Amino acid sequence: MASRVRNICCIGAGYVGGPTCAVIAAKNPEIQVTVVDLNQTRIDAWRSPSLPIYEPGLQDVVELARDGLDGRTPNLHFSTDVEGAILAADLIFISVNTPTKTVGVGAGRASDLTYVESAARQIAEVATSNKIVVEKSTVPCGTAQSLRDIFSTLGQDNVQFEVLSNPEFLAEGTAIRDLMTPDRILLGSLRTKTGLEAANALADVYAAWVPPERIINVNIGSSELAKLAANCMLAQRISSINSLSALCESEGADISELAYAVGLDERIGPKFLKASVGFGGSCFKKDVLNLVYMAESRHLTEVANYWRAVVDINEYQKERFTKRIIRQLNNTLNQKKIAVLGYAYKKDTGDTRESAAITVIGQMISENARVHIYDPKVKESQIKQDLSAEHRPETIDRCVTVCNDPYTACDKAAAVVILTEWDYFKTDGLILPPALFEKLSIKDPENPRLKRTSTSSSDTPSEGTGSSTEGSQHIKVHDSPLTSPGSPAEPANASKVMQ
Ligand code: UDX
Ligand code: ADP
Repeated sequence: MASRVRNICCIGAGYVGGPTCAVIAAKNPEIQVTVVDLNQTRIDAWRSPSLPIYEPGLQDVVELARDGLDGRTPNLHFSTDVEGAILAADLIFISVNTPTKTVGVGAGRASDLTYVESAARQIAEVATSNKIVVEKSTVPCGTAQSLRDIFSTLGQDNVQFEVLSNPEFLAEGTAIRDLMTPDRILLGSLRTKTGLEAANALADVYAAWVPPERIINVNIGSSELAKLAANCMLAQRISSINSLSALCESEGADISELAYAVGLDERIGPKFLKASVGFGGSCFKKDVLNLVYMAESRHLTEVANYWRAVVDINEYQKERFTKRIIRQLNNTLNQKKIAVLGYAYKKDTGDTRESAAITVIGQMISENARVHIYDPKVKESQIKQDLSAEHRPETIDRCVTVCNDPYTACDKAAAVVILTEWDYFKTDGLILPPALFEKLSIKDPENPRLKRTSTSSSDTPSEGTGSSTEGSQHIKVHDSPLTSPGSPAEPANASKVMQ
């Protein structure tokens, strides 16, 4: 095994593989890093000025290492030559997608390891020199052993493979910051001499910028399970606060104030206590379901039921939110124009996977609403593709309009629904900036007597809302507030309905 890593290959140029390798390359100019993918379009984009994913700070890091700025020699490469990159590498990250299985045993819950397995097979068949193979994708416990089995069965006799687990904890929207200053780098290895040597070789790569006390080495099972557990516990926190938001609304309490008060307890802490329309993203639901499946398959029924409730509450929250919109609009959305601001599953990303917007908009389409959507980073084609999973193309064409600016989306809308907490919607007072109020013709068609008011007790003046009653329109801000005065909680997707 290489004691020092000189050449890295990353299989999978997605949200994890791309940014992670860009930072590794930027911080280790002496290591050649090649990110490979089967998807030619994606690789072309990584090679171009217009990267395939939006992530604050990513462009600078990629250009530094890929284009060799500041007098550097370029050491970050993107390619579809998977075999060539495997042959040249002494360390290979497997960073491919692990979606939830849709068919067969465990469908709807278990991780689909097809892509991980196919990458491992290719490594085994191609490699002619020793390799350290690193699981970067989030995988169920026992995957490292499956990989070892593949390598011992298909690999050449004179080639040694050492398998490590090194899950990635970055969150989208803050990927570069998370990679630059990680809470921890988790390495899982066999406790054998070669296993520990491989872990040390990978630790050296991270040591270029991560303090040694933050690089921890555990056994592989602990590492695999810790990644799943971390995501499940984060998701559980959101479901806890979201379930409490329903109680708050029925009791006249304010969820932001509650989160603030609870989060001041040092044992609980303030982060990830932001009530929302429900968590989205490619990880939380998939990983919780994965844990549920692991528990079920080990006959731990109570454990499985406990974690399944985290996903159930998330679905309940999305439905509850839509029902509230319908109720606010006199129990019918038929032919009403609804403006939706934000579609990505959180701010600062163009990613829409599992976005609460897909569910909420889908339910509004079923009610025959005319939904006008604006998101600063999500393309129309993506929105229509997402919605086509549940709705026919002609229904989408009839009910959905994707707008290039929020003003067009909001013009003459019966309700404005904010589903992603883009700063643009918050800090400029889009909730609601006076300028937008002027441009809006918000009115309740059924009830002309309603007054224009802002009623959320927790809205701060800086958000552009107050408690004034002006004019003859009713602008009611309700549901889970985005921020509370002095709230330490992170803003989450979600939000406010204005009628
Ligand atoms: C998550 C984990 O945070 C990260 O460590 C892991 O590597 C991948 O999964 P990500 O899904 O990118 O990252 O974003 P995150 O910031 O965790 O948000 C996930 C969802 O939870 C978003 O829809 C967000 O709006 C929502 N959320 C977050 C809340 O509803 N309330 C909160 O308080 C925080
Ligand atoms: P993540 O969010 O985990 O990074 P993505 O879906 O964004 O996941 O990216 C995974 C990438 O892995 C995709 O671009 C896909 O084309 C790529 N991929 C999957 N299997 C292989 C493979 N065997 N060889 C090369 N690339 C692969």
